[in-house]
Amino acid sequence: MLAKESLVVPSLLSANFANLERDIKRIESAGATILHLDVMDGHFVPNISFGTNVVKAINATTDVILDTHLMIENPDHFLEQFRDAGSDILTVHVEACTHLYRTITRIKDLGMNAGVSINPATSLNTIEEILPFTDLILVMSVNPGFGGQKFIESSLQKIISLSKIIKEKNLTTIIEVDGGIDLSTAKEVKDAGAHYFVAGNAIFGNGNIENNYSLLTSLIK
Ligand code: DX5
Ligand code: ZN
Repeated sequence: MLAKESLVVPSLLSANFANLERDIKRIESAGATILHLDVMDGHFVPNISFGTNVVKAINATTDVILDTHLMIENPDHFLEQFRDAGSDILTVHVEACTHLYRTITRIKDLGMNAGVSINPATSLNTIEEILPFTDLILVMSVNPGFGGQKFIESSLQKIISLSKIIKEKNLTTIIEVDGGIDLSTAKEVKDAGAHYFVAGNAIFGNGNIENNYSLLTSLIK
């Protein structure tokens, strides 16, 4: 089971792709225990990032937990491949899955933690039925597809509501928040009830990886 604690989860989307191993070693020695890997297909989101080969190569360089965020259509076709590549948490979008219960069950049967992500314009109602079967809900606080975007303020109310439902139902589900997390937004996201804080640009954007990680961590602990 995933630890329900406050953690900064660096997103490699803003790391140096020509020096991924170097950036991974740096963030690992700064204290990161989970890395967020953003997979984009150019269909579900208007951008392409990387796929299973890169996840596999990353897995060969580190022992940290790999948190793979699939921003792709038809994720069912790739679940086993991402498990084989080394993903420990596999998150699919509610908007991309017609038979979400089947997808989540399959992810767990493959031995991974199962996450469900919701876009900013998607209501919490859409995940009500699947919530008890998930290990993690990934609340998008930007429109997925790009790093370095501005945090959408209405996400805070969504996190507050989700946190309340999880407590009322006495679930172990982790709330992870993704997009626009930085020194000015992290504290209010923490107060809203989030556990994992994905951060790309705020960690890798200016090259001060270790410093950025520790400053952000101090705000959410
Ligand atoms: C966006 C990705 C995010 C992205 C966050 O579609 O899902 O994980 O890397 O980037 P920042 O922290 O720069 O908003
Ligand atoms: Zn992401």
